[in-house]
Amino acid sequence: MEETRVLLRNKDVANMVDVAVSMEHGGYVGLRNALLMDGAQVIETLRDSGLRGRGGAGFPTWMKIKFAYDAGGTSKVVVCNADEGEPGTSKDRILLSTDPHSIFEGMAIVGKAIGAGRGFIYLRAEYSYLFPILENALDSARKSGILGKNILGSDFSFDIEMRSGAGAYVCGEETALFESIEGKRGEPRTRPPYPGTYGLFGLPTVLNNVETLANIGPIFANGVDWFRSIGSENSPGTKLFTVTGNVHRRGVFEFPMGTNLKDIIYEVCGGIAGGKELLAVQTGGASGAIIRPSQIDIPLDIDHVASSGGRLGCGTIFVIDDSNCVLDIVKNTLEFFTNESCGKCIPCREGGVQLLKLIKKISEGRGSVIDIDTMMDLSNTMRETALCGLGHSTPVPVLTSIANFRDSYDRHLDKDPCSKCSPERGLK
Ligand SMILES: Cc1cc2nc3c(=O)[nH]c(=O)nc-3n(C[C@H](O)[C@H](O)[C@H](O)COP(=O)(O)O)c2cc1C
Ligand code: SF4
Repeated sequence: MEETRVLLRNKDVANMVDVAVSMEHGGYVGLRNALLMDGAQVIETLRDSGLRGRGGAGFPTWMKIKFAYDAGGTSKVVVCNADEGEPGTSKDRILLSTDPHSIFEGMAIVGKAIGAGRGFIYLRAEYSYLFPILENALDSARKSGILGKNILGSDFSFDIEMRSGAGAYVCGEETALFESIEGKRGEPRTRPPYPGTYGLFGLPTVLNNVETLANIGPIFANGVDWFRSIGSENSPGTKLFTVTGNVHRRGVFEFPMGTNLKDIIYEVCGGIAGGKELLAVQTGGASGAIIRPSQIDIPLDIDHVASSGGRLGCGTIFVIDDSNCVLDIVKNTLEFFTNESCGKCIPCREGGVQLLKLIKKISEGRGSVIDIDTMMDLSNTMRETALCGLGHSTPVPVLTSIANFRDSYDRHLDKDPCSKCSPERGLK
């Protein structure tokens, strides 16, 4: 199966940090076109394109921009979320390192739409080696008049500054990210107010994922009809899928939205490695749904995955073979989320710890049906009452694994410890 390389079109071009090389390969054509429009026209174009966020929630990109456009005031901000903390995910890293100007271009177009003069890239702390590379690319753009005052001879001025992440998963949550840039502890804010009216430094802010921003230049360069001709009706465009786990060929692959999950696992990634059988797939990262082999024949777009009880999220596909136990996978994700919970709200701070204790108890053969019911109750409470997306998504692997692998849970009840679970992990 051939990839459809829109965002990764320049992946194999050398020295894309240099703005001249980027322009030789079509860089900033979209920005030049957007500079001929007013803010409302830029937003209309994005609305007609149907672009939706690639950071996890799939929110319509134009709508976010419209909130900030409608907000009063003359000082507004654009933020690029390059925190990429979802375990096993590396799609944004590939874009940042192979085509940084495509991200700057997207940010400048959003800036033009809302009349923002400043943009910030919040870069994952573990990607610190990319910091100087991105600084060099920004300098190169400034020297060519693409960033700074009166960009490309227009009356629009826009520049971008780099900020380092704080090494915490929760700082990828938009409001925690703002707090972190402001030099405060990275904890999510209570909403409302929303970022469109009160975001970074209290200013109207548009925050987008790296991949979302990289889509914007090509839309303005090639037009809305071209963009809509790729992908599915409600999720146009391509998607970067990070495939990880027990497949022959792991990596980041670009395919149209709506590409079949089974085809990606078996045709693109060569199927299950080591002569094993497929046990389960987790789509959307650690906070995604865990599904059975019989459920993988689905188109991967935002709405299809959601309607089958899953989550496309950032497009990570974690393939799990039958040498593993589903409960061990759940335990592993709960360890991650309890470590990363910021502790600001009780449902997540306490709920995650209790879920971890319960899954550990069941996997060690000390659990009962009541423990499974308690896990479901706790999970539903967390989903309804936690303050931010971390607390809302912690229960997703729990609830989906109980729904789809109830037989596995039942097999662990009142038995000797499961040989595939790792008893040394988890809370003692
Ligand atoms: C705990 C948590 C971590 C997140 N981490 C990231 C991240 O690393 N990168 C990202 O783009 N979005 C992340 N998000 C989602 C952002 O809050 C936000 O919705 C997204 O960046 C919006 O961009 P988009 O509209 O372009 O998708 C995270 C959300 C939560 C709740
Ligand atoms: S849900 Fe978790 S991460 Fe989010 S604010 Fe509450 S404690 Fe912090």
